[in-house]
Amino acid sequence: MTIIQLFPSLFLNLFLLLLLRSSAAPTATATISQQFKEAPRYYNSPECPSTVNTPPLTVDPTVDPTVQVAMTLDAAYLRGSMAAVLSVLQHSSCPENIIFHFVTSSSSNASLLRATISNSFPYLNFHVYPFNDSLVSGLISTSIRAALDCPLNYARSYLANILPLHVSKVVYLDSDLVLVDDIATLAATPLGDSILAAPEYCNANFAFYFTPTFWSNPSLSATFSDRKPCYFNTGVMVMDLDTWRAGEYTTKIEEWMELQKRMRIYELGSLPPFLLVFAGKIAPVNHRWNQHGLGGDNYRGLCRDLHPGPVSLLHWSGKSKPWVRLDAERPCPLDALWAPYDLLKPPFSFDS
Ligand SMILES: *[C@@H]1O[C@H](CO)[C@@H](O)[C@H](O)[C@H]1NC(C)=O
Ligand SMILES: *[C@@H]1O[C@H](CO)[C@@H](O)[C@H](O)[C@H]1NC(C)=O
Repeated sequence: MTIIQLFPSLFLNLFLLLLLRSSAAPTATATISQQFKEAPRYYNSPECPSTVNTPPLTVDPTVDPTVQVAMTLDAAYLRGSMAAVLSVLQHSSCPENIIFHFVTSSSSNASLLRATISNSFPYLNFHVYPFNDSLVSGLISTSIRAALDCPLNYARSYLANILPLHVSKVVYLDSDLVLVDDIATLAATPLGDSILAAPEYCNANFAFYFTPTFWSNPSLSATFSDRKPCYFNTGVMVMDLDTWRAGEYTTKIEEWMELQKRMRIYELGSLPPFLLVFAGKIAPVNHRWNQHGLGGDNYRGLCRDLHPGPVSLLHWSGKSKPWVRLDAERPCPLDALWAPYDLLKPPFSFDS
């Protein structure tokens, strides 16, 4: 009989004390109190195109056998990112053909994040890139939700610069989502002449995303005069990085952010500049690929239901996150769909 079996409540109290102490520490140390399980190894099915002997990335993208995925990685959302990666692999017919590109804040411990990914996914083909926070920190103006103001939230606007030039097309994914379908289907979305593809919502109130200052200034609102803009969520996008680079779209986004510093033209964080540059010009994706809003609204985080129709991707955008609500034992009903992808080790199974 061990001492833990004799005095379980003592150990529970000690553990809770440690937990309380660590929750008061800065988020950068959050990874130290989290340990993750190793995910199973996932294999290609026999029909998968080979990536061996084909110099991947140099061939025509329509026959490129690889799927390139970009995500951000930080201590605060690490648990979500791990679940997202697991979900991508688990539902892919050709998981060995997927290459992950993780962008981390220059202020976070990249080698620790890299080690955490390697430990849980020893067979994963991935790269980690630092994102220079100061590139964007001077351009961020405060929004209605502090989490939206984190510099890494803007990394999606810089992917064309951050990722190597041979990555010509990428699927960008937020860290608060899981896929329940094959990412290759999403990656194969025809882009036509568009730079990016995402599900569009033309029934949403587009005007809502910009201030009266914006709409009442004809020289600003004229930006939408030659197109029918519709809302889209920037948490799931297929991006043509070659066209992006050629058109210098990062600069176009930065120009709107500079303007926002001088006059308030929108309220949310990284989304409105994307809408300003791309709304009405994107290639459509079936709504099943971004069942968003499951985190609840930006103010109160109330539980939300799925939108009607099929589901390939569940996205907990909004104020709350499933792991937070599950830990608090106040989950929303749909959080049960995230839980199977959670790789966090239960606290008492920590390796010593
Ligand atoms: C980053 O993490 C590694 C591995 O856990 C550790 O050895 C190192 O001291 C950390 N570096 C910083 C700057 O905290
Ligand atoms: C980050 O960007 C700032 C501003 O552009 C620059 O001064 C700094 O040297 C950059 N840091 C690194 C590590 O590249």
